[in-house]
Amino acid sequence: MVLAQNAVTGAMARVLPRRLSERDPLVRPSEHADFQSNVALSLAKATGQPPQELARALQQELAGGAVSSTLSGPGFLNLSVDDAQLWRQVGARLADDRLGVGEPLAGTRTVIDYSGPNIAKEMHVGHLRTTVIGDCLVRVLSFLGGDVVRQNHLGDWGTQFGMLIQYIDEHPEARWRGADPGEQVSVLDGLYRAARQVFDADPAFVERARLRVVALQSGDGATLAVWRELVAASTAAFQQLYDRLGVLLTPEDSAGESTYNPVLAEVVRELADAGIAVDSDGALCVFFDDVTGPDGEPAPLIVRKKDGGYGYAATDLATLRHRIRELEADRILYVVDARQALHFRMVFATARRAGWLTDGVEAVHVPFGTVMGPGGTPFKTRSGGTVRLSELLDAAVEGAREAIADKPHDLDGEALERVVRAAGIGAVKYADLATSRAKNYVFDIAQMVALQGNTGVYLQYAHARVRTILGKAPQEALDTPVDTSLALHPAERALVLALDGFDATLREVAAELEPHRLCGYLFSLAKALTDFYGACPVLKADSAGVRANRLALCRLTARTLARGLDLLGLQAPDRM
Ligand code: ARG
Repeated sequence: MVLAQNAVTGAMARVLPRRLSERDPLVRPSEHADFQSNVALSLAKATGQPPQELARALQQELAGGAVSSTLSGPGFLNLSVDDAQLWRQVGARLADDRLGVGEPLAGTRTVIDYSGPNIAKEMHVGHLRTTVIGDCLVRVLSFLGGDVVRQNHLGDWGTQFGMLIQYIDEHPEARWRGADPGEQVSVLDGLYRAARQVFDADPAFVERARLRVVALQSGDGATLAVWRELVAASTAAFQQLYDRLGVLLTPEDSAGESTYNPVLAEVVRELADAGIAVDSDGALCVFFDDVTGPDGEPAPLIVRKKDGGYGYAATDLATLRHRIRELEADRILYVVDARQALHFRMVFATARRAGWLTDGVEAVHVPFGTVMGPGGTPFKTRSGGTVRLSELLDAAVEGAREAIADKPHDLDGEALERVVRAAGIGAVKYADLATSRAKNYVFDIAQMVALQGNTGVYLQYAHARVRTILGKAPQEALDTPVDTSLALHPAERALVLALDGFDATLREVAAELEPHRLCGYLFSLAKALTDFYGACPVLKADSAGVRANRLALCRLTARTLARGLDLLGLQAPDRM
């Protein structure tokens, strides 16, 4: 697209006055030609010319150059790039690590808040989307040159830990300390539930749990020691899952709720002093004109509860202030369930009133829909419990094993095992990313691991297949530079143009925070590759020159697919 953009920009410079010639040339991919520009329509008014006349003037300027044009409709320019230019671009991109992708986010800092599981509880299906979408955004924004700070806002603080620690203390027979972190957290999850039952039934336990909360908050050594053990075991278990999922999160990215505990009082005081938080029945609240509860009464953000305790809202306010002041973020993304939309709206509005969130900083809730079970209702186990993330991944890996076993392959042992894992885990991540964020989707393993259709496995196969072809090519053919004098076959042209769209696609993903655009792009790239194989023999091409050019196209496609899969957080095995 750069080629066509530059050509139109050049023509604009010769036809238009300076104040207009530096505008966006409005070049887009097109069905009627390689590209289309409607810049004549958009600028005609400002020049006082009819659009068709301006379009004709631009066309005359383009004539004889590398980009030819025809006119259509009320003033569209249909643009076709000449073959030599397109081949030259293929050659140039093969010599460039970045595959033609720019760094538009250089010099910006984005904080991405994602995953955020709760200590002493197992990660469940509800944590899948935030973890997978957040990881993809981290990768894409970093690749586009952005400075990205990962923040895992663990639920590691609050009255529930008083309850759990008290219960553990009263039940020495409940052995949760074991070798495997996953096992430990699974036991803790059960203890948590048991503690909750006693809490709901026994007022005397409620009182003992309350005292334990006070002990935790005032830094009682023995209580804190148990809390630290809980955090350490859970963090280790989460890390096992992150590693298995292949997401970039590490323990260093953890900045849980407890991190902000020391500043909550001060943050809330600042809001109260400024008159932003006001007393309401003994609680400190922030009110909003446009936020009311089901009864029509104002529904405030509670920053300090009646009993003096601080909760999720106060913590998020302190967190936001920290990210603006200390982390110096330009943009803060919260990849959190759509059900928390109101919470974030109120937190951001409060921070704006407090003057923390100013025009130079953007805070964005990046919401997503729910993972549904086969019945089209939120995914639950048969007994109605939450579905453990680890079990879900096990099931997907088994599904991939069956799907791949059906296909002839020459892999065995550990190599096969690695591919099965890459396909199974990749299938889950891809299915999640390929759905537009706001939509719910049904968790359907058979569909996720299908070898055909818009799936991760299909793309991994497309990549492995082109790698296999490249593996069979003689070295001298791979070393031959691209011959720019050869005519492009229509299927070659379609593939070159598909490759050309990588940069624009990544920019769209970053602007809209929609990973599914990258999935759709890679899927259409893989289809263009299949069409190309069907029409253009590669290893058996008619001449050495044609073969070398086609191999260059294969190499560039393989690298673009591998890079694209990597940006989604999927592996791209060389053989499958
Ligand atoms: N722990 C929270 C939950 O499970 C998610 C945290 C999201 N991030 C935030 N800054 N509130 O719902």
